[in-house]
Amino acid sequence: MSTSTADDAATIFADATAYADEPRLHAAMAHLRRHNPVARVDHGPYRPFYAITKHADVLDIERDNKLWLSAPRPVLTTAAADDVAKAQLDSGAGLRTLIHMDDPHHRKVRAIGADWFRPKALRNLQTRVDELAKSYVDKMVEIGPECDFVEDIAVHFPLSVILSLLGLPEADYSRMHKLTQEMFGADDAEYRRGTTLEERMATLLDFFDYFSKLTASRRENPTDDLASAIANGTVDGEPLSDVDTASYYVIVASAGHDTTKDAISGGLRALIENPGELDRLRREPELIGTAVEEMIRWTTPVKEFMRTAAEDTTVRGVPIAKGESVYLAYTSANRDDEVFDDPFTFDVGRFPNQHLAFGYGVHFCLGAALARMEMKSLFTELIPRLDSIELAGDPELAATVFVGGLKHLPIRYSLRAGK
Ligand code: HEM
Repeated sequence: MSTSTADDAATIFADATAYADEPRLHAAMAHLRRHNPVARVDHGPYRPFYAITKHADVLDIERDNKLWLSAPRPVLTTAAADDVAKAQLDSGAGLRTLIHMDDPHHRKVRAIGADWFRPKALRNLQTRVDELAKSYVDKMVEIGPECDFVEDIAVHFPLSVILSLLGLPEADYSRMHKLTQEMFGADDAEYRRGTTLEERMATLLDFFDYFSKLTASRRENPTDDLASAIANGTVDGEPLSDVDTASYYVIVASAGHDTTKDAISGGLRALIENPGELDRLRREPELIGTAVEEMIRWTTPVKEFMRTAAEDTTVRGVPIAKGESVYLAYTSANRDDEVFDDPFTFDVGRFPNQHLAFGYGVHFCLGAALARMEMKSLFTELIPRLDSIELAGDPELAATVFVGGLKHLPIRYSLRAGK
């Protein structure tokens, strides 16, 4: 169902398996950046959109949040799912998170949780994050000399951090793990609950059920944590609606989990595949800040967000009508050689590194500083204790059209016990 105006290469954006096949993906994106940087895609089960592949264009669109709106299509979902989501919102149910909102409402809702992601709150969380990082590296020693780094370590560490930030009990950990995997893994057969829309919606309802009980308890007995801030937050003096409260938990629990797991596991894979860079980081541990930034650029765990034009406009001369949507291809922007020297080289000392993996502008990732802190903490614990590390099998990437990275990273290693 491609149209004559569509460039075939751009159909990768409507193909969940493309992100699991990096050579094919990067070849198509390089072609698009050069020959068709604003490519119309009318393919698969999706409504048409324009794929934006140049860094400068992604940045310009994200900067202009009056012209480019998040509602009604913040991410790529099938036409059928778009319709269900719209019907649910119209009926007062359904997901309406920060990423679905525009100003002025977005700014007010974002402010409710924002303090918990600022340096002061994060400094209070540092000791807990370092303890967790150490416990997971200790676990690697215990289960070594081989493990699946994704399944055994990388999925658990960020989720434990999020649960600590929200103030949830560790007993709820496995339930949250399963739900976030089902939610973000909806395009992957290994992760999803099922293929029907009803099965996908069931995951959402389970999330809502868990969090509505949490809201009730935090309203009755407020505690000093992010969950209480959300449960008791107000907009224009009014408490958040049930939908907005539940949606806030959903975005924090889900956005803070898989994304960071993908950056951590993809970052470790990049170090294994570039042993010179691993040695450099061992010799110069002060490079940890630039190394983490490079891991985030390299893996770009969030593949896209979308925006919809509030007025008729153009991008690079291509007319885009009011109501039409653009797909911001972060993975492509982060390999744009107009911005990055040798974009396909993994360089732990890369500076500057103006990647767009956390987006830009009013929706800039609320958890960026937390993600950086977690990654610094884990690699600062891991690298000095590591005598050797290698792949013990083929790494496997998840199929996705939104958030994704490694599903499996089999490794063999020799790691010293911690103090
Ligand atoms: C490496 C890890 C992460 C990556 C790559 C990432 C990426 C992103 C991106 C691309 C956006 C959208 C930005 C835009 O539209 O301009 C976003 C938004 C968001 N992220 Fe993250 N994120 C990560 C970790 C986290 C963590 C740890 C949390 C919190 C616990 C978090 C919470 C959020 C929230 C709440 C939003 C919505 C902000 C808004 O719409 O105002 N993220 N993230």
